Amino acid sequence: MEVIIRENADSCAEIAAKIVAKYLREKKSPVLGLATGSTPEKMYRKLISMNEKGEISFSHCTTFNLDEYVGLPPDHSQSYHRYMKQNLFDHIDIGMGSTHIPDGNAPDLRLECLNYEKAIKNEGGIDLQILGIGSNGHIGFNEPIGSLSSRTWIKILTQNTIKDNARFFDDDSQVPRHVITMGIGTILEAEHCLILACGKQKSMAVQAMIEGPITSQCPSSALQFHKRTTAVLDEDAACLLKLKSHYKWVEENHLDWQQYD
Ligand code: PGA
Repeated sequence: MEVIIRENADSCAEIAAKIVAKYLREKKSPVLGLATGSTPEKMYRKLISMNEKGEISFSHCTTFNLDEYVGLPPDHSQSYHRYMKQNLFDHIDIGMGSTHIPDGNAPDLRLECLNYEKAIKNEGGIDLQILGIGSNGHIGFNEPIGSLSSRTWIKILTQNTIKDNARFFDDDSQVPRHVITMGIGTILEAEHCLILACGKQKSMAVQAMIEGPITSQCPSSALQFHKRTTAVLDEDAACLLKLKSHYKWVEENHLDWQQYD
């Protein structure tokens, strides 16, 4: 795994936006996998600003979001449909027909999951998958002990995640129990995964993901199997890494074409 450590959340967002921009500039029809949550918000703001300045365009790009709550109306303040419009889609030159988010209100949720997988395949797969990490090591909404080769499916959130996400709702009881999420197997098929983590509250999960054993107890540890994952971390999220100086050494010795800055 490639590990990039930056001073703070702002400098992480800066380099993450540069990585996304590279795909938008270099690929004829880039397919981006998108994430929600508080971590990627700053990166989205940087991408919007680059789009406004004409430095990048999303007009040729297709997107697939990782996950969505089951049962929240799309215009609910906490739905990921609403989040994506507010934090990205309403401010960039993307055609809404090129964006995909699982439909948590589909009459047949199982069919929705199967069709979501097909839609990703029809676009030729995901070029760059953006990910956040939960404090329990989840990616997407793939909670501990789920299969490490799962596909897009309906999952039940852990009480830990419900507690973490309650800050966005009035209280715990308002957080939906069910979600649709791309599976770990789906995520591992992306050409490149870009996982972002900031803050001390993520440091244990980050250490387990990068340096721990591959185990379904920490779903993000499956990324150790992935052919090309870049982890962008701030100093706080990286504080428990045992090989931190080695990761910095590797980055300092990157060849020109391996650098993002
Ligand atoms: P956060 O969520 O960015 O809001 O911390 C990340 C996640 O749970 O995947």
